[in-house]
Amino acid sequence: KTNQQWGGRFNEPTDAFVARFTASIDFDKRLYAQDIRGSQAHARMLNKVGVLSDEELKAIIEGLDQIRGEIERGEIDWSIELEDIHMNIEARLTDRIGITGKKLHTGRSRNDQVATDIRLYLRDEIDLLLAEITRLQQGLLEVAEREADTIMPGFTHLQTAQPVTFGHHLMAWFEMLSRDYGRLSDCRARLNYSPLGAAALAGTTYPIDRAYSAELLEFSAPTANSLDSVSDRDFAIEFCAAASLIMTHLSRMSEELVLWTSAQFDFIDLPDRFCTGSSIMPQKKNPDVPELVRGKSGRVNGHLIALLTLMKSQPLAYNKDNQEDKEPLFDTVDTLKGCLRAYADMVPAIQSKGEQMREAARRGFSTATDLADYLVRKGMPFRDAHEVVGKAVALGVKTGLDLAEMELAQLQQFSDTITSDVFDVLTLEGSVNARDHIGGTAPAQVRSAVATARAQLAAR
Ligand code: ARG
Repeated sequence: KTNQQWGGRFNEPTDAFVARFTASIDFDKRLYAQDIRGSQAHARMLNKVGVLSDEELKAIIEGLDQIRGEIERGEIDWSIELEDIHMNIEARLTDRIGITGKKLHTGRSRNDQVATDIRLYLRDEIDLLLAEITRLQQGLLEVAEREADTIMPGFTHLQTAQPVTFGHHLMAWFEMLSRDYGRLSDCRARLNYSPLGAAALAGTTYPIDRAYSAELLEFSAPTANSLDSVSDRDFAIEFCAAASLIMTHLSRMSEELVLWTSAQFDFIDLPDRFCTGSSIMPQKKNPDVPELVRGKSGRVNGHLIALLTLMKSQPLAYNKDNQEDKEPLFDTVDTLKGCLRAYADMVPAIQSKGEQMREAARRGFSTATDLADYLVRKGMPFRDAHEVVGKAVALGVKTGLDLAEMELAQLQQFSDTITSDVFDVLTLEGSVNARDHIGGTAPAQVRSAVATARAQLAAR
């Protein structure tokens, strides 16, 4: 017996292995709710234009509602022979309501159907992800405000550079995530067009109303070209690119959390509930959550490359290659959701160790630039000031003294322009407070950045 959905022109049944090899039901069953929603909109449209009668429409809508219930109660036996979610649901509908079920696929193809399903799916998931990014950002604002005055070393090359405030550092994370939020929102806006009606590739001969089904599904409008509608998965690739960037950001944050929780940095503590121990070393408390997030960035990047590669050589219009878009896409969504959730839960619980951070900033000659700027204000060209301070640092390295700990006379041997007011700029507070402009690290700027950011979140 050949396939019941398309077996008419076939003379022998599909090879059993080929049936399993080509089926997608194992993973695309996840699209059942979107598939049913899309089918119901399609049926309503067919009824509006006179292709389905009111009774037929009613039977289809109710039948699909019941199938949704069956699926959610786990009562459906998915069939490999029926290949995918689309044909499984359609066959079940025909089982339930009889011949009318076979009319649902009028003026439609699985090609525009699946393109619709994925867009609906991704749109829903993006909304959840956007909410989770916002939750994480709210947590960051909370901690940033609390830590607006906390001084830590800022780094370049992972070498102590200049003092910054911990709040300022966290607000850098906030900014990364704001751009991520924007990218996901852009992706959502660009994918939100309805492929329904593109049918297999060329459109359909029925007097369809594409604007109507688009509206029922809350799409902005129908897509403009039928060939493009069923073939391109650029929206999924764009989503994965945005996801890769989010994971890149989370991975960088993770790297910092891992460093900061080490005994060598000792800048912060993560609550026990976000860490695990070692089965052999009793003293261990490992930052597993950040490490795992950092590691998971790898699979998300991999999925992006998988989708780019599966798309790149496809001639118009639909090709079965596109069936391979789903597993990477689903895993990207799941991974991202888990990582964002972990971060949104964990970030507000970060406990800073202000004394240790401060001590690290003090030890690293982090106010050397402030001393150079001081000399410039007294009339010395910057390059000369750089040289003078470099010599003072060399002395500090030898004696183990930070610049602020040296005697005035010691400093004056490098330049007699230095007077006792120098100690105002050599303090850590003096250094951060002096960077008091938009985007600077001064506590006052951190507070105002937090206020601006709160207003941005409130306006979302
Ligand atoms: N399972 C298919 C996919 O995921 C649905 C579309 C199949 N269309 C076709 N003509 N074989 O892409």
